[in-house]
Amino acid sequence: MPKLSIRDLELSSRRLFVRVDFNVPLRDGKVADDTRIRASLPTLEYARKQGARIILASHLGRPKGKRKPELSLRPVVERLNELLKTPVGFASDCIGEEVEKMVFGLRDHQVLLLENLRFHPEEEANDQQFSRALARLCDLYVNDAFGSAHRAHASTVGITRLVWSSAAGFLMENELTYLGKVVAEPEHPFVAVLGGAKVSDKIGIISNLLKLVDTLLVGGAMAYTFLKAKGVPVGRSLVEDDKVELARQLLAEAERRNVKVLLPLDHVVADKISPDAEPILTEGNAVPDDKMGLDIGRRTVEAFCSVLLDAKTIVWNGPMGVFECEPFAQGTVWVARAVGESSALSIVGGGDSIAAVKQAGVAQQIRHISTGGGASLEFLAGRTLPGVEALTEKK
Ligand code: 3PG
Repeated sequence: MPKLSIRDLELSSRRLFVRVDFNVPLRDGKVADDTRIRASLPTLEYARKQGARIILASHLGRPKGKRKPELSLRPVVERLNELLKTPVGFASDCIGEEVEKMVFGLRDHQVLLLENLRFHPEEEANDQQFSRALARLCDLYVNDAFGSAHRAHASTVGITRLVWSSAAGFLMENELTYLGKVVAEPEHPFVAVLGGAKVSDKIGIISNLLKLVDTLLVGGAMAYTFLKAKGVPVGRSLVEDDKVELARQLLAEAERRNVKVLLPLDHVVADKISPDAEPILTEGNAVPDDKMGLDIGRRTVEAFCSVLLDAKTIVWNGPMGVFECEPFAQGTVWVARAVGESSALSIVGGGDSIAAVKQAGVAQQIRHISTGGGASLEFLAGRTLPGVEALTEKK
């Protein structure tokens, strides 16, 4: 990587600002899924071992520049204490005199977590004063928040212009290595599986992926926009009508590039999204007028899985159905199993897909679980991530 790495920094007794992505789900005031916290441990343990004085900063949710108690990072401290096996301090803000006092009181190996950066509107505005207030806290900067690297905010970009050295942490390096490999030299057959609700969220990545993959499997609500573009009846399924034309163009582009696009051959349909809905399996790819397609059907699962088992590279982002609702979760779980069983270099990103590989018990078999949903998609779409771009070049 042409950027400075945490390994290149002299950390002993230095105040090290580490931008992490602790944007984790909370339930009843506790961390409900600590994947992102665990993923930052190699960097934090390394920095502690080197004798750094560690200042951790993150956002949580989208408080829109206001202090929202339910989006406080305080619950993360408890989990961090357990995982790092050391007491972690907590500052009730991320800038200001009180915070500076706590930061300047840190000793070697100690860790302090700052309050949610997004309680200040200046964070997302990449405000210079705010960046300066953050930079004042530290000697060195490390970005380990791959999940936020597609955001040009004060803590990911602004601060880097005001500190001596800005380096990538291990999580950041790892993500860039795996995703970079897939973009630069994928082994074939290369299969991408895309799902989720919106084509509009994934347009950029679809047209870019068509340049890389041999086969594209489309599931989830997104598939209905593509089926409509092909003139298949979709009943009351979720369709982005203003994207039907675009879906048609993408299908034509795939044909030009000789990329196979597999759409659902059958569906699990119902008349409502509810745990007590009555799921019905369709015979073919048409959805009855009064029903909604809510999961891929058995034939689709078989077709998708056989493609996945032959693949050498797999990228998966987005569920195949309404995964959070039990009667419509099976398609996603079967795909998760197939991705896990395949010997391909597999990369899984996005909250539901990650939950599915865990539920299917195959998380260990996935080569790389990306901590960044949006960031990994933007990277695969060939865009430069501002948070990476901003890091110091290696000499
Ligand atoms: C994520 O969860 O994808 C990252 O933490 C970024 O969050 P954001 O989409 O609110 O910027």
